[in-house]
Amino acid sequence: MASWVITIPKTTPWSQYQKELATVADSSQVMNYRTRYFPKGMKPKDRCYLVHDGRVRGWMAIVGLVDAPNEWTCTTTGQRWPAGKYIQRSGKFHPVDGPEMTGFRGVRKFEWMTTLAPQGTRQLWTRGPLSPEQEALLEPFLERYELLGRGGHRAVFQADDPGWILKVALTPRGRVANELESVRSLRYGKTSRVPFADCHLSTVLGTEVLMMEWVQPYNIMDPPCCLGELPEWVQWVDFVQVGWDNQGNLVAYDFERLAEEAGYK
Ligand SMILES: Nc1ncnc2c1ncn2[C@@H]1O[C@H](COP(=O)(O)OP(=O)(O)O)[C@@H](O)[C@H]1O
Ligand SMILES: [Mg+2]
Repeated sequence: MASWVITIPKTTPWSQYQKELATVADSSQVMNYRTRYFPKGMKPKDRCYLVHDGRVRGWMAIVGLVDAPNEWTCTTTGQRWPAGKYIQRSGKFHPVDGPEMTGFRGVRKFEWMTTLAPQGTRQLWTRGPLSPEQEALLEPFLERYELLGRGGHRAVFQADDPGWILKVALTPRGRVANELESVRSLRYGKTSRVPFADCHLSTVLGTEVLMMEWVQPYNIMDPPCCLGELPEWVQWVDFVQVGWDNQGNLVAYDFERLAEEAGYK
């Protein structure tokens, strides 16, 4: 699945654009983007990210590539459009707090695998590009699974079972983190000072990965950022990498690095 990015003219206020996004959210209607040509390799089901006012704002699915022979009227806005090529998008809009992208118009490929950030938190978009070895390692996973996030040492994918994710180590430290987390989870589970997300090592696509239960990550950038409302132990987890499991328990999901106060060896 490829990702593309299109620019929306600043002359359309974002508030108006949001109304159109809401109209197509249930997939009953589509949004059209006029383009001079369809980029090579663009297919329905690919992701289409939007740039508005110099920043990547989110993505939605491409549902069709239409070459309209005649003038036609848009069902969403009532606007008249000339004959031409249109990239059609529909369904839920997935907002991201994306990177800056200025100075281009039109359509281009979005190298999201090198930039996609966990939960779209802005400072994490700055992760450097992948080495050729890391790209080769990730390629089969990117083909097969949806990328959920990338940390400094691991890339995280949605497993087939929606209750589980896969952590693929990108560095030696990522491999150590996978091993350590599997040991800690097995030994302590959710019963000691810092409750750990369930996880275990497994081989997927010929690579040893950490299978971990999916959690809804707590986003430190979310306002209101009131650490006071979270239990005391979260301060011992590096960068408050905690989230809610399917039973609603708050657990740590990245627990390679814990403060000494947490008392783990
Ligand atoms: N169990 C999980 N459920 C859902 N998302 C996760 C889970 N674990 C990690 N993620 C996402 O993937 C990102 C990278 O994973 P993380 O374990 O933090 O890797 P790293 O060790 O490289 O920092 C996280 O920031 C988070 O957004
Ligand atoms: Mg992390």
